[in-house]
Amino acid sequence: MEIFHISAECYPVAKVGGLADVVGALPKYQNNAGDKVRVVMPCYDTKFKKENDFECVYWGHVKLGDFNFPFNILKEKTDKLGFELYLVEIQELFDRKDVYGYQDDIERFLSFQIATLDWISGRSEVADVINCHDHHTGLIPFMMLYCHKYEKLRNIPSMITIHNGLYQGQFGFDKLYYLPEFDLAHVNVLEWDNCINSLAVAIKCAWAVTTVSPNYLNEINSSANGLESLFNLVRYKSRGILNGIDIEVWDPAKDAMLEKNYSIKNFEKGKQENKEKLCNLFNLDPTKPLFSFIGRLLEEKGGDLLPHAAALALSENYQQINILILGSGDKVIENQLNSLLQDYKGNYNTFIGYNEELAHLIYAGSDFLLMPSRVEPCGLNQMYSLRYGTIPIVRRTGGLRDTVIDFGDDGNGICHDQATVGDICYSIQRAVDLYDDKKHFNKIRKIGMSTDHSWERVCQEYIEMYKLIINKK
Ligand code: GLC
Repeated sequence: MEIFHISAECYPVAKVGGLADVVGALPKYQNNAGDKVRVVMPCYDTKFKKENDFECVYWGHVKLGDFNFPFNILKEKTDKLGFELYLVEIQELFDRKDVYGYQDDIERFLSFQIATLDWISGRSEVADVINCHDHHTGLIPFMMLYCHKYEKLRNIPSMITIHNGLYQGQFGFDKLYYLPEFDLAHVNVLEWDNCINSLAVAIKCAWAVTTVSPNYLNEINSSANGLESLFNLVRYKSRGILNGIDIEVWDPAKDAMLEKNYSIKNFEKGKQENKEKLCNLFNLDPTKPLFSFIGRLLEEKGGDLLPHAAALALSENYQQINILILGSGDKVIENQLNSLLQDYKGNYNTFIGYNEELAHLIYAGSDFLLMPSRVEPCGLNQMYSLRYGTIPIVRRTGGLRDTVIDFGDDGNGICHDQATVGDICYSIQRAVDLYDDKKHFNKIRKIGMSTDHSWERVCQEYIEMYKLIINKK
């Protein structure tokens, strides 16, 4: 099967969040399983771009209303990622350090989608399926169906995979003229709440809709930032497929970013050495349980609860626990977290920023990982932490509910129901008690380490979904 994945992020080329990890791993496992897989993404000014060799396989001009942007399709020469990687180079729009956050993001991602389809429709071979990811690629299923110049792609099935339905890529109808020509009889397909809503368009037009966990699919029927009724309408073509993790990149026995490698056979000693290194780096106490948070400091991730929860937990368990936070995001949250540094020196620290290497060491060296998310379509961090023998403490939501079961129910982690400081602190207290009962603590860590969350198993579910829509042709 010939599969195209189209995405704004892909690890290790450019990463903001979990989307990159998924698009960096799923295609590799699909390729290993015998399919021909290509990933297409914008060409940002990244380290990966500078350090690797590319060849230009196609070029053209994107016409975006009155604008005309030259573009090149660059292929990474060696397929070193385990699949064919294509970067869409539109210098004026993407030769920048960050993936998102610019005033012209609508123009940037729309141009990216048009250039991608210009290229795909210009190729002599036809694809079997086009898998789009999130709203940045949401107009592709519409353009394939209705834009005159992509007529050749009309019968190719498209699928939208939703990693986060909160972000929808809305813009006004004043920009309608950016889109390549189509019969205006279909203009209402673009509309949701008086705007062009890229995610809604994808949900309407794609032949199949997947979310990144089964439970998230259930939740968005009642909570999807305004798209609830639409999700209800398309249930017949929707499925929740739980993400996997790349067990080659995330392997405590081989991970080169760790102080000490370990497996389920010697995890106690291995984790302790990583913990000592981490505590050394951050002036923490390696004899006390270490609670960490890794991720974006946003309300959605429960980031706003962290400063208060950390302060309360640290004062209730004075000098009995450590807390370490790695992340960046909302400046108010960042400042609140930093303002605790003075009061809890020796038991609390932060690293404001993003650092992949440090994240690996934290998974290995921590005892517990905090994930107090309000919204978590899947969540990968809990799966990384399970694999590294670190017990996740999660709010039961989205994919966290699918992957973490409370140890009180013979599970692998600690769960609470409310996104509140009280619930987080109650879970931390249960964790402290568990930590003191070494036999039980180790048993739970072992359960986590032996859970199989590999893509090998999961990628078959994607193939099944593709087959379903290909058969509908
Ligand atoms: C987004 C979601 C996260 C999910 C990831 C990968 O970042 O917020 O829950 O795990 O995408 O699908």
